[in-house]
Amino acid sequence: MRRYRAARRDPGLAVLEGFHALKHALRFGAAVLEAVAADPEELDGLAAELAPDLAGSLTGRVSPVGPEALARLVPQAPRTGVVAIARRPAVDVAAVLADERPAPVVLLEDPRTMGNMGACVRVAAAADAAGVLTTGHNDPWHPDALRGAAGLHFALPVAAVEELPGSDRPLVAIDPGGEGLRPRDLPPGAILAFGAERHGLSAALLDRAEARLGIPMRPGVSSLNLATSVAAVLFAQRLCPSPSPSKR
Ligand SMILES: C[S@@+](CC[C@H](N)C(=O)[O-])C[C@H]1O[C@@H](n2cnc3c(N)ncnc32)[C@H](O)[C@@H]1O
Repeated sequence: MRRYRAARRDPGLAVLEGFHALKHALRFGAAVLEAVAADPEELDGLAAELAPDLAGSLTGRVSPVGPEALARLVPQAPRTGVVAIARRPAVDVAAVLADERPAPVVLLEDPRTMGNMGACVRVAAAADAAGVLTTGHNDPWHPDALRGAAGLHFALPVAAVEELPGSDRPLVAIDPGGEGLRPRDLPPGAILAFGAERHGLSAALLDRAEARLGIPMRPGVSSLNLATSVAAVLFAQRLCPSPSPSKR
């Protein structure tokens, strides 16, 4: 129990709660240090059904633990009855920003809700973004964010930065007050900046951005949820890419 408690506060470790988090961690090459399950056999069955590519790789890796003991390891025991500890991969933020592929980088400015952060990472991974960077006090690798992302932090670089470093990527503010977004106008390789749940983007970031774009909404609706807006913009761009050359 002490190891799981300590791992929650260790910036080098990630606590994985539930089958889907463990599945994605393994699938995307995480170094899983230990895993415990209330019923390892049931877990094997789940893997055979939901992740046949990993069916063999769980056997022998997961130690059995009673359901009461499992419930004490994490604040809310996952229904799939498995928790694990993995090593967080080191992220080279300069390399993420220098990546020449046209994939965007998602910047979350001071996000407040762990579940929202996780949902943003999940959709960024699904849309094959180049990375997710966050500013502010909240750790994007917090176990609740990992749970919200179903462990997809291991599928792309995810890191907290004190502030956004300079780069030659265009910085685009995604803001409800911005000019109506047309997906084809999103520049390739942009940093797409999204604001905090309550206050939106800071004046400093809006000033620094070279464009300010809004997702058109029906009159009377103030804004979308943070993760929903990240999903809308990333998939608008993915489904309708800019006609400019594929390299930045
Ligand atoms: C819940 S919203 C913040 C609402 C805040 N009161 C505001 O006006 O910006 C959180 C973030 O989601 C994004 N967002 C939500 N709805 C949006 C929209 N219709 N157009 C562009 N961005 C949006 C923005 O990045 C925003 O900062």
